[in-house]
Amino acid sequence: MGKYIVKNGQKIEGTLDIRGAKNSILPIIAGSILNENISIIHNVADISDVHIMIKILESVGCKIKYENGTLVVDSSNIVSCDINEEYVNKMRSSIIVMGAMIGRLDYMKIGHPGGCKIGKRPIDLHLEGLRKLGVEITESEGFIHCNKKELKGSTIVLDFPSVGATENIMLASVKANGITKIINPAKEPEIEDLANFLNKMGAKISGAGTNLIKIEGVKKLNKVEHTVIPDRIAIGTYMVASAMTGGKLEVKNVIHSHMDPVYKVFSCCGCDIKYLDNKVILLPTRKIKSMELVKTLPYPGFPTDMQSQIMALMSISDGETIFNETIFENRFMHVKELIKMGANIEIIDKNTCLVKGVEKLYGNNVVSSDLRGGASLVLAGLVAEGETEISNIYHIERGYEKFEYVLRSLGANIKKEL
Ligand code: EPZ
Repeated sequence: MGKYIVKNGQKIEGTLDIRGAKNSILPIIAGSILNENISIIHNVADISDVHIMIKILESVGCKIKYENGTLVVDSSNIVSCDINEEYVNKMRSSIIVMGAMIGRLDYMKIGHPGGCKIGKRPIDLHLEGLRKLGVEITESEGFIHCNKKELKGSTIVLDFPSVGATENIMLASVKANGITKIINPAKEPEIEDLANFLNKMGAKISGAGTNLIKIEGVKKLNKVEHTVIPDRIAIGTYMVASAMTGGKLEVKNVIHSHMDPVYKVFSCCGCDIKYLDNKVILLPTRKIKSMELVKTLPYPGFPTDMQSQIMALMSISDGETIFNETIFENRFMHVKELIKMGANIEIIDKNTCLVKGVEKLYGNNVVSSDLRGGASLVLAGLVAEGETEISNIYHIERGYEKFEYVLRSLGANIKKEL
C-alpha cells in the first residue's frame, strides 16, 4: 500500500512550478469524448486519477497518448456505451463521464458511484439536471442507465452549486437542441477552464464562473488544443509546507484570482505574500497566528480542499481556531491522526472542531484516509519532532504528482517505502 517516512528539521523552500489542476483535467478529459475528433491537452499532471480516466476513455473506444504532460485523445470511434463499475468504484468523480457520453450517444450505462470517506456524495443533482434535458434515467442493481431520443435545452436551477453536477449538465448540453441555462452553478475556476476547453472545440458556453451559465447547443464540434489551469489546491498545499517550516517559497505559473480565498487565510495567520506577474512568493514566517474561524464554502469562499492543510498549519499556531466544514459531512478524518501527533483538537460536532495551537508536534505512525487529509499529515510530519510514518499514501498520489519528490526538491527529509 506504500508509506512516506518524514523527518522534521528542514525548511521547505525554493522554487515550485507544478502541473495543471486535477479537478480541471478530469472533466476536460471527459469533455474530449464529445468532439469525435482529436483533443490535445497540455499541462496534465501524472497522477493516478488521470490514469483511471485514461482507462475509462480507452474502455469505450478512445485512442489516447500521454507523454510529458500532454494528453492526446482521439474520440472518433466510440465502440462501447458501458462504463465499467470497477472504474467508478476506484474514482467516484468518473461520474462526470456520464454527461459527455449521453451528450454523444443515445444510451449509456455507468456504475453508481458509491460515497467515499469524506461523505455520502449523492448524485441527485446530476440526475435531476440530465432528466431536465430529456434523459430517461433508471437505476438498477447499482447501475445507472441513461436513454435519450433528443436532448433539449432547459433551465436548471441547482439547489446547491455542485461542481460535478454543473460539469455533467454542461457536458450534456453542449450538443442539445436549444439553450440550456444553469442557475446557481458552481463558480470554481475549474468550471471556467472546462467551459474554455469546450468553447475551443466549438461549443457556445457563456457565464462560466458567474451565477448563470448559458449553453447554446451546437451540431458540430472540432479538434481542440488546450492548456489546463494551474492547480490552486496543490500550490496552496506546498505553501502551507513552507509556512509551517519557516521557508521561503516562490511559485511560478499561478493565477492569483484563483488563489485569493487561500491568500486571505495565509495573510490572516501572519504569512507575508508577494505577488509578481504570474508568480507568488511566500516569505519566511516566524510565528503562525491563529485565525478565530476557518469556514469552507463554495467558490469564491475558502475551499474545502484546503481545510485539512490549513488545520495542520493552525495546529502549531499561537491560539485557538474554529474550523467549520460546510461542504462535506465527514471531512475531519485527519483530526484523530493529527491528535496522535500531539495536536490539540476538539471535535465539537460533525462539521465543527476547535484547534488550539501547540508549541510542538511529535512524530508518530498515522494513516491517510483521503487525498487532502493525507497531505495534511505529511505537512505535520515536516515539523513533528522525530519521524512520522504516513501509510495508505495511494490516497495522496491520486492528486499530487510526485509528491515526495517535489517536497524533497524543496528540502524535505521524506522518503517513500512500498
Ligand atoms: C468536486 O467534487 C471536487 N472533485 C472535490 O475535490 C471538491 O472538494 C468538491 O468539488 C467541492 O469543491 C473534483 O472536481 C474531481 P460537489 P464534487 O458536487 O463534484 C453534495 C479533492 O480533494 N452533492 O460540489 O463531488 C455533496 O454530497 C476533491 O480534490 C449533493 O448533495 O463536489 C457534497 O456535500 C474532494 N448532490 C457537496 O454537494 C449532488 O448531486 C459538494 O459536492 C452533488 C453533490
